[in-house]
Amino acid sequence: MSERTYPVSPEWAKRAYVDDAKYKDMYARSVKDPDGFWGEEGKRLDWIKPYTKVKNTNFGPPDVSIKWFEDGTLNVSANCVDRHLAKRGDQTAIIWEGDDPTKSKLITYRQLHEQVCRFANVLKAHGVKKGDRVTIYLPMIPEAAYAMLACTRIGAVHSIVFGGFSPDSLAGRLEDAKSSVLITSDEGVRAGRPVPLKANADAAAEKAPVKTMIVVQHTGGKVTMKAGRDVWYHEEAAKVPADCTPEEMSAEDPLFILYTSGSTGKPKGVLHTTGGYLVHASMTHQYVFDYHDGDIYWCTADVGWVTGHSYIVYGPLANGATTLMFEGVPNYPDESRCWQVIDKHKVNIFYTAPTAIRALMQKGDGPVKKTSRASLRLLGSVGEPINPEAWEWYHRVVGDDRCPIVDTWWQTETGGILITPLPGATVLKPGSATRPFFGVQPQIVDADGKVQEGATEGNLCIVDSWPGQMRTVFGDHERFIQTYFSTYPGKYFTGDGCRRDADGYYWITGRVDDVINVSGHRMGTAEVESALVAHDEVSEAAVVGYPHDIKGQGIYAYVTLMAGVAPSEDLRKELVQWVRKEIGPIASPDVIQFAPGLPKTRSGKIMRRILRKIAENELGSLGDTSTLADPAVVDDLVANRGK
Ligand code: WT7
Repeated sequence: MSERTYPVSPEWAKRAYVDDAKYKDMYARSVKDPDGFWGEEGKRLDWIKPYTKVKNTNFGPPDVSIKWFEDGTLNVSANCVDRHLAKRGDQTAIIWEGDDPTKSKLITYRQLHEQVCRFANVLKAHGVKKGDRVTIYLPMIPEAAYAMLACTRIGAVHSIVFGGFSPDSLAGRLEDAKSSVLITSDEGVRAGRPVPLKANADAAAEKAPVKTMIVVQHTGGKVTMKAGRDVWYHEEAAKVPADCTPEEMSAEDPLFILYTSGSTGKPKGVLHTTGGYLVHASMTHQYVFDYHDGDIYWCTADVGWVTGHSYIVYGPLANGATTLMFEGVPNYPDESRCWQVIDKHKVNIFYTAPTAIRALMQKGDGPVKKTSRASLRLLGSVGEPINPEAWEWYHRVVGDDRCPIVDTWWQTETGGILITPLPGATVLKPGSATRPFFGVQPQIVDADGKVQEGATEGNLCIVDSWPGQMRTVFGDHERFIQTYFSTYPGKYFTGDGCRRDADGYYWITGRVDDVINVSGHRMGTAEVESALVAHDEVSEAAVVGYPHDIKGQGIYAYVTLMAGVAPSEDLRKELVQWVRKEIGPIASPDVIQFAPGLPKTRSGKIMRRILRKIAENELGSLGDTSTLADPAVVDDLVANRGK
């Protein structure tokens, strides 16, 4: 572990909203008097009916119930758009940068208002009402933000499905959300290549309850429109008025569902609500990125993930910011793309994932150094642990030793950032997410739930609620309680391992459950296993993560074939394609090892510990194998590692 520290520079201590003394002061107040602290913080939003109650939360056992600002009413799109019109109607709200470097677009708050209203009216015209679920399967184009905000304007609940997911994954999410309206586009484009979104949506709709498909024309690629079901967005938008009154929503009305993978079963619909989520997204965006009026802010995530929800759309727009939305990828047309975009749009704040940093670092300093990046002031990292080498490179080469890095730890479930440096307050240590944000009380427990004090390592829990916390699993509150509050009753269990050092800094060590983090994307090993066993020639599969230089973790699959089926290179390729088709390209196994048998206990439980060690090539520390039903299978797995 790197022990080098990076102090707060005098300029940062001066310009930032929060210095170290203020951080300590605000933090103490936030945990001592959450009602007072958040009661004031909630005023950053415009409420239709102001709240009189602030925090009403209970982590059980047995019941878990989380409510914030419960008697207040508001509208999210009014907070993200309308309220900015008087002061910044002509300010750019969204900078759109296309995959093709010659394509970009600026959208002012006034234009955003018109677009959101039109989209809302199109949804209304197709019968969408408050509380209905609308699924969004779009590329990174401004219409994605319009569609999200349009849902919030009329009180519909959006469920965004990342454009890289397969038709089957999309169908499962449509079905679980009981969503009859699907918004998609003809195609997406990534690195110059088309992505057939409409064709995928058609395949998904065969298996799902889709009654209306609204299709945004983006590339002009050829698609088939099904009469009675499919409509072109631009045709519908031309028929409706450019104004739409925002619906009055209660703070605890559902805002969106976002599916995420867990250690067991199908992906869960994480449900976020209106008031607390927006307070948290707005506050963290302001303080963590030290966002000031006029700053140009760029988060490279996709709106299909929670980072895109909270830190491309809701947090920045609630703050009247200029937010950049990028359709492309970091290495197209070449490895300088991100830095060129920064120079082109004079980006001040840049927020990306360690996997992108590692991939670009591998190409050397050249592609970075031929750009200016003089506008950059602050860098951010999110999605997975950042190794100190990548952190140092990001700081030295990208940030020219001048820009602090905020390594922000959070989850789909947390709605917004929970553990993070504040650039004017926190001495940085490469690889550490440092200290808790306001109101967040982390705790480290051992396997039995015993609280560990001081410098220690164990499992990360959060002991009390924060406004952006998820409220339930859509349609399955019992699963919510089981997944997050039953391992350590009365505490929210994150699923992450964590170390706390002598300075009270937190170092996230990665998942301790059967979830792997591939390029910052969360993947349940059980999901990949069930995709593999769905193939006719596979009898059994076990999937584990292993360290991968660029992706953070790679996917290692042990596959047992049906009797009589011979392993071959062709079959290996076919299985990789099969998983891509079943789940999506992000789930492609990096390694498939054909295993005649899997290590099982006498009761038939697969011993993943051993499979992980073999995948990690830690053959000297396989541990006790004597309890296995057939210890000889381990010898075979070791002898044929990776084959
Ligand atoms: C998991 C959550 C956070 C939004 C994007 C991912 C890992 C996230 C960090 C970080 C170390 C991190 C954790 C967490 N993670 N940020 N800064 N340092 N690990 O959201 O898909 O819900 O994944 O990502 O393991 O549990 P997600």
